Amino acid sequence: MNNNFDVIVIGSGPGGYVCAIRSAQLGFKTACVELSSTLGGVCLNRGCIPSKSLLNSSELYHKAQKEFNTLGIETTNIKLNLRKMMDNKKKSVQILTKGIEFLFKKNKIVHLKGKGLISSKNTVTVVDDSQKKTNYNTKNIVIATGSEPASLPGVKIDEKTIVSSTGALSFDKVPEKLVVIGGGYIGLELSSVWKRLGSDITVIEFLDHIIPGMDKDISAEFLKILNKQGINFKLNTKVTKINISKNKAIVEFINNKSSQKEKIECDKVLVAVGRKSNISENISKLGIKLNNQNKIQVDEKFRTSIKNIYAIGDVIAKGPMLAHKAEDEGIAVAEIIAGQAGHVNYDVIPAVIYTSPEVATVGKTEEQLKKENVKYKIGKFPFLANSRAKVNNETEGFVKIITDEKTDRVLGVSIISAVAGTMIAELAIAMEFGASAEDIARTCHAHPTHSEAIKEAAMAVDKRPIHF
Ligand code: NAI
Repeated sequence: MNNNFDVIVIGSGPGGYVCAIRSAQLGFKTACVELSSTLGGVCLNRGCIPSKSLLNSSELYHKAQKEFNTLGIETTNIKLNLRKMMDNKKKSVQILTKGIEFLFKKNKIVHLKGKGLISSKNTVTVVDDSQKKTNYNTKNIVIATGSEPASLPGVKIDEKTIVSSTGALSFDKVPEKLVVIGGGYIGLELSSVWKRLGSDITVIEFLDHIIPGMDKDISAEFLKILNKQGINFKLNTKVTKINISKNKAIVEFINNKSSQKEKIECDKVLVAVGRKSNISENISKLGIKLNNQNKIQVDEKFRTSIKNIYAIGDVIAKGPMLAHKAEDEGIAVAEIIAGQAGHVNYDVIPAVIYTSPEVATVGKTEEQLKKENVKYKIGKFPFLANSRAKVNNETEGFVKIITDEKTDRVLGVSIISAVAGTMIAELAIAMEFGASAEDIARTCHAHPTHSEAIKEAAMAVDKRPIHF
């Protein structure tokens, strides 16, 4: 094999593999280095994809147990076969990671197996399983090495009793008691999975609200919904210590306000307090600048402090740690290398929590706009008044649209709904096209659909919803 490339991408997660495909499409001789035996990174192997498989299966199990009867579907003896559920998850992961292998072959991308290290600005050294080192020359390097779970000081994740999302996606039996540290994306999605499968769940969150950064209205309503589902919350609470004894954990914590101390004994502890970027030692040795959170600093063209070395996804100090943000950056960087105008609009990146109901947002929150002194209007519409949600027994949640007071331009949207994750795409498009609430209100929406609630919320901005 010829060891000279135009682009070498390090990491094959959603940022890296998409960047490699776009580079190859643009005519570059491209390679992608991956340390793990399968392509796809955290998202496909132990993140987004396996968690969505378990969220889907556990929701169906829950519905079969608790909701089918009311619909006139009588079932007896519904049993959980956790191993089968996990096998189904593994199968989905396998199919999708193989899919990337296929796409690499189709686009003639060379898959370099091993750990990729940048030895100089034009050399990537790949160290394989047998520690054999091979150098590859390249005109451009894209760092897309992603992130790994963060932990708390003094807490060691052993993936047995104290687990990260990786361990919590593969329990071999349903934990009787599960303590989840962190009320963010991972904490709440995995709490939902194990609650539906029978665990007693307590979420410990340091702040006085869940999902920090999301609209406060949404966060408050979502907390009520999750409480109703039987998930226990300890807000404003700090974990001080975790002791392990005989396969059990004792989690000690203290209330930030009252200083009241408590402890819970449980079978498993999930630590979901955020993720940290994967930055190999030689990156700082090369002089690539990092910020104070150990993330790579890039300019508007995703260039690091070394101009032919680019970085995207969870390793950079830009935007949220989300798979689709990384994908868009992967496409943009390949186009920038090709001399095109690659671009990512950080003001319009949707975010979704795949619980039941789902939570989805795009653009600014009310709190952000207040801070920025922007004058705004709000239109809200509840799913209680949406016919499709009603017939499906999915009446929890609402759509909240925030627009500029003067121009009516949509600035931000938050949705809680059974299908919020799918609905939010309409708003992302609206915002990319600079739409006003009036534009959405005058767009015909099919009946009966959950999306009619978007049209109604847009009409509510002008205080004229029809069904509420
Ligand atoms: P997160 O940042 O979403 O939430 C972490 C939570 O832990 C926050 O609420 C924070 O206040 C809390 N916390 C921090 N320190 C704490 C402490 N000492 N005690 C108690 N609580 C503490 O992080 P998470 O859930 O680990 O997710 C990591 C990343 O993965 C996020 O950036 C998220 O965007 C991404 N992700 C996205 C998903 C999606 O798009 N559906 C699903 C899963 C993860």
